[in-house]
Amino acid sequence: MSTLPESKIFTPIQAGALALRNRVVMAPLTRNRAPGAMPNDLMQTYYVQRASAGLIITEATAISHQGQGYADVPGIWSPTQVLAWRKITDAVHAAGGKIVVQLWHVGRVSHCELQPKGGAPVAPSALQANAKTVLMRQGVATFVETSMPRALELTELPGIVADYRTAARNAVAAGFDGAEVHAANGYLLDQFLKSGANQRSDAYGGSIENRARLLMEVMHAVVAEIGADRTAIRLSPVTPSNGIDEPQPQPLFDYVARQLGQLGGLAYLHLIEGTTGGAREVEGRAFDYVAFQQAYRDAGGTAAWMVNNAYDGALAQAALSAAPPALQVDLVAFGRPFIANPDLVERLRRGCALNAAQRQTFYGGGAAGYTDYPSLS
Ligand SMILES: Cc1cc2nc3c(=O)[nH]c(=O)nc-3n(C[C@H](O)[C@H](O)[C@H](O)COP(=O)(O)O)c2cc1C
Repeated sequence: MSTLPESKIFTPIQAGALALRNRVVMAPLTRNRAPGAMPNDLMQTYYVQRASAGLIITEATAISHQGQGYADVPGIWSPTQVLAWRKITDAVHAAGGKIVVQLWHVGRVSHCELQPKGGAPVAPSALQANAKTVLMRQGVATFVETSMPRALELTELPGIVADYRTAARNAVAAGFDGAEVHAANGYLLDQFLKSGANQRSDAYGGSIENRARLLMEVMHAVVAEIGADRTAIRLSPVTPSNGIDEPQPQPLFDYVARQLGQLGGLAYLHLIEGTTGGAREVEGRAFDYVAFQQAYRDAGGTAAWMVNNAYDGALAQAALSAAPPALQVDLVAFGRPFIANPDLVERLRRGCALNAAQRQTFYGGGAAGYTDYPSLS
């Protein structure tokens, strides 16, 4: 990779209320190192090591016990979790960084063992995800099939919206600079959006408007709680992650774009392009991101534009520099490169080689493969 000294990637940007010192964002990365759903000192070390990112987005963080779908992921529903997160956000801020929390309800991508009273996970419809989740077996992260979910009752949906709202309030109390609503990768809000997982016949299923209803209720609730300029959203229009599918993503997401645009100045919109962690194009699921962006801007949306999936320094620089009619990009999120390179920003700046990420330590374990990747200095 060649040096990128004068690159736009290293210039500051204001994203809603977030004053970011560069455009290199740490993507949300689940690492399953939070036993008891509690943030801890090891996580603090990990995030502080990566504080030179323009913005850190935390690993997906459960808004409720019901919203949990993997072993040893953190939550943000209880006062003790808020206090534990506060230590981490203070430390990241002391290191000069910015950090937002990714708010997560997994929906059907869960297992009875992780649910309150061992119950079934919840979903728009009683359709099992073709997906695996992670349980701990003798301290070892083990992939297992997700459990058969039950369909949420109409009367339960206001409670889920309220859980998002409480989690957003907790995020501010915990010292986060903002909150990203996780509406991607086949989790609850994506399950409601996409017809492959949503067969409801009430006001939350069927038409595009109905399938987008829960997402928009959640967005309105979070915005009402912490302000649009501290609220963000992550979407993945075409990813098949966690067994999700939508045969007609364009009209669905163009509608979502128009609805989000009416919320005005969100902090940023975060788009996963293609298959999360895989190909940037999905066969049979063509998607026009420029049209999607135009629909959002035409509706009045002013959020910064964040892209993700398989970017390296050169591709990021090209995306950030592209002139219309190409997509207009403000921020680039890096996932696996940030797992293995705590000083990713400096390495991109100097054009240095990157450490390779070790898959076997992605999920669960301790410091190995988590806080022991070497920095340049
Ligand atoms: C170990 C691991 C954990 C991940 N956890 C999350 C997560 O918690 N929330 C989320 O939205 N995406 C998650 N992702 C997806 C990444 O944020 C990102 O979209 C993906 O790795 C593609 O970006 P990259 O090519 O820069 O790695 C995860 C990916 C990996 C490899």
